Amino acid sequence: MSNPPWPWIHGPASGHFPLVPGESCGNRFVMTSAKVTPAAFRAMKSRGEKIASLTAYDFPMTKLLDEAGIPLILVGDSVGMVLLGYPDTTHVTMAEMEHHVRAASRARPSALLAADLPYRACDTVAAAVENAHRLVGAGAEAVKAEGGRDILEQVRAIVQAGIPFLGHLGMLPQRVLEEGGYHLKGKNNLEREALLADALALEKAGAFAIVLELVSPPVAQQISKSLAIPTIGIGSGPECDGQILVTHDLIGAFPWFTPKFVKPRLDLATQLRATVGQWKASI
Ligand code: KIV
Repeated sequence: MSNPPWPWIHGPASGHFPLVPGESCGNRFVMTSAKVTPAAFRAMKSRGEKIASLTAYDFPMTKLLDEAGIPLILVGDSVGMVLLGYPDTTHVTMAEMEHHVRAASRARPSALLAADLPYRACDTVAAAVENAHRLVGAGAEAVKAEGGRDILEQVRAIVQAGIPFLGHLGMLPQRVLEEGGYHLKGKNNLEREALLADALALEKAGAFAIVLELVSPPVAQQISKSLAIPTIGIGSGPECDGQILVTHDLIGAFPWFTPKFVKPRLDLATQLRATVGQWKASI
């Protein structure tokens, strides 16, 4: 039998696998940390440890983020915009999510690998459970869906089925067409109270953490203080228990649109164009 092309998945030719966490196989493919479980995030919150989370939609990015020590990796439906060229996330299908979850999960990260239930995948309790099972079948270890008390039955059923659930409140990208854009949430008392009630309901239904997207920072802070489970903010100020970004925004890999709250740490698009230009000129 020939050597597998990916020794870090299948083990080196010596058969010295599986590695236990921290064990070295004498080359660069070393597992350094134990598998992250959903319960780990609540423990991180109680220790005051910030949770860093990023998106990945394929094998190499998942592997790189995992090697960088990111404990929560999300195969987000943002894949629709930053990889698939859709104008928003409402076009992403279950089949597309499964395809990307399969690719990401082949990296076998130590991080918890969560995946988005895409547009309309959570419309009924039966659909939510069936689609959550499909994502788990593709390799996801947790699922995320947008909404609060409006999808509570679905959340309870997913948790009841033994699938860890990540909530998502605030600005809900799958509602962009209904709402006519991406607007900050929690600007008035009514919105603040609704967000808080949604967050408490998701926690009670068994969510292990909640993403707060574009929530007014004082409201995000109040929600974070009111929950035992962690909040993971995106554009919601620094007082959340963790932060999540679309990796392409962080590394400047999708330069045609960058949300206002993101400060890219790399300018990959410029560097890539320059590198390609230099190579082209050199041949
Ligand atoms: O789809 C996504 O990438 C997301 C996060 C950025 C929260 O939902």
